Amino acid sequence: MDDFYEKAASFLEQQIELYGDELVMEVAAHNPDAREGSDRDADEWRQSTSLIDLEKQISACRKCALYNTRNKFVFGSGNPNADIVLVGEAPGADEDRLGQPFVGRAGELLTKMLAAIDLQRSSVYICNILKCRPPQNRDPAPDEIVACKPYLMKQLQLIRPKIIVCLGRIAAQVLLETTDSLSRLRGQIHRFNESELHILYHPAALLRNPSLKRDAWEDLKRIQRSLLELKVK
Ligand code: URA
Repeated sequence: MDDFYEKAASFLEQQIELYGDELVMEVAAHNPDAREGSDRDADEWRQSTSLIDLEKQISACRKCALYNTRNKFVFGSGNPNADIVLVGEAPGADEDRLGQPFVGRAGELLTKMLAAIDLQRSSVYICNILKCRPPQNRDPAPDEIVACKPYLMKQLQLIRPKIIVCLGRIAAQVLLETTDSLSRLRGQIHRFNESELHILYHPAALLRNPSLKRDAWEDLKRIQRSLLELKVK
């Protein structure tokens, strides 16, 4: 028995040395309730074979602090077999309230932009880099992107679109893993694994700055040409 206590004491000392206060977290990690929605199913969601299954697995996510302030987890919406996936930045207030991406003013403009190149919202898939709203609509923080990006990767792996359209700088920088400016990145076709990757100004930026609309139209026409070339439905 003495041996047990010695071993336990030396284990605890080592834990304190390594993790300091984190010891409390480590103990909590063995409590299934405390781990609900965090690392308990760390790998289970990776095995999902459909978007519906993936959404069920991750919608109680607590991998970053945004779960504290979100109302709804905004997984994504649209055609699970879409040839074209649009990726925005993060839910805003309307999206957080309704649990759907791009349903506010920016979303209305996005719907019109898609219609201008003969795309219905129901035929595409729309999601975001972050699934939860950052308070005050601030930019996503690096740790939030690191926590959430694997979910987007899994969505793209399941959908396997021919074309990915990044809406705005953040989506483009995150998917292309670059810090290049939007003005450097837009106006050309990039690749992301098997998909073409296009970049459009974020519709919220177009609402703020209508002088960008001329460039945005060029970008939309480039996407439309790709849709025809790749025989996108
Ligand atoms: N802006 C985004 O980037 N995504 C949304 O879903 C809504 C607004």
